[in-house]
Amino acid sequence: MGFDGKTVWITGASSGIGAELAVQASKIGAHVILSGRRQKALEDVAARCSSETFVLPFEATDYTVLDGVLEKAIAWRDGVDVLVNNAGVTQRSLAVETAFSVYKDLMDINFFAPVKLTQLILPHMVERGGGHIAITSSVAGRVGAPLRTGYAAAKHACCGYYEALRSEVEKPHNISVSVIIPGFVQTPIAKSALTASGEQRGQSDPNIDTGIPVEEAVQEIIAGLENRDREIIVARGLEAQALHLRNTDPDTLHNTLSVFGEQSVATLLNND
Ligand SMILES: NC(=O)c1ccc[n+]([C@@H]2O[C@H](COP(=O)([O-])OP(=O)(O)OC[C@H]3O[C@@H](n4cnc5c(N)ncnc54)[C@H](OP(=O)(O)O)[C@@H]3O)[C@@H](O)[C@H]2O)c1
Repeated sequence: MGFDGKTVWITGASSGIGAELAVQASKIGAHVILSGRRQKALEDVAARCSSETFVLPFEATDYTVLDGVLEKAIAWRDGVDVLVNNAGVTQRSLAVETAFSVYKDLMDINFFAPVKLTQLILPHMVERGGGHIAITSSVAGRVGAPLRTGYAAAKHACCGYYEALRSEVEKPHNISVSVIIPGFVQTPIAKSALTASGEQRGQSDPNIDTGIPVEEAVQEIIAGLENRDREIIVARGLEAQALHLRNTDPDTLHNTLSVFGEQSVATLLNND
């Protein structure tokens, strides 16, 4: 299913990957619903879009507002064809120091929020005889990476939920489920990463700053979504290798991750 003429709802559309997804999807004819918390940032992204857009801000973890939000999204163009669950927050903190509440927050935004929205939209897609749901997981959703114990757990949970969901809805209901697995992509994500105490980190890091340019990453994501690919991997170098080693040589992977962990801890201590 190409995006031309489709209604595509993107969460996390005020920044980074989601913002670029909205811009590129609109260029190929999608009508885009942009969600995130910051109305002004969403409006700025909408102004860069080439087709009709609907700015629909909401706090993804406020589960009490979601019924109303869904109603508005469906009412806009009499249905939603594609939901891209993309909003997320990462982490930069050691497990030994991280407050338990930070784990709960990371699970809330990265896992429970998309699951709740997905649960709400599923009956709509079943009734319409089809649809497409995507989740932005991460390479950290396949490989446990240092400083990201909670983030990796939430993103692994996403892979589990959405793969199991696909097995239930793909054939009987014609609903495609795409799991997006990006490696490092140049976005502001590291700045809003949660620290051990749950505050925003406030600064980026070299891995993200030298990652894949967001325009390039999103071109690959859009191509995968238009193709209804079940898994869309957008990773280069070490991250791509890590995904491969996970299956073929896990010992080498875990040794490499230990070295990366040592370096990451040193970087974290130098930066903070
Ligand atoms: N960049 C990478 O290297 C990378 C790698 C792998 C996976 N990912 C994943 O890709 C997705 C997009 O990340 P990004 O890199 O584009 O980061 P980003 O630029 O920081 O964007 C995050 C988006 O999530 C939204 N968001 C965060 N908390 C929210 C909440 N409580 N309620 C509603 N919206 C919320 C933000 O909107 P507001 O601030 O307006 O609420 C923002 O639009 C995330 O799921 C991330 O985990 C990113």
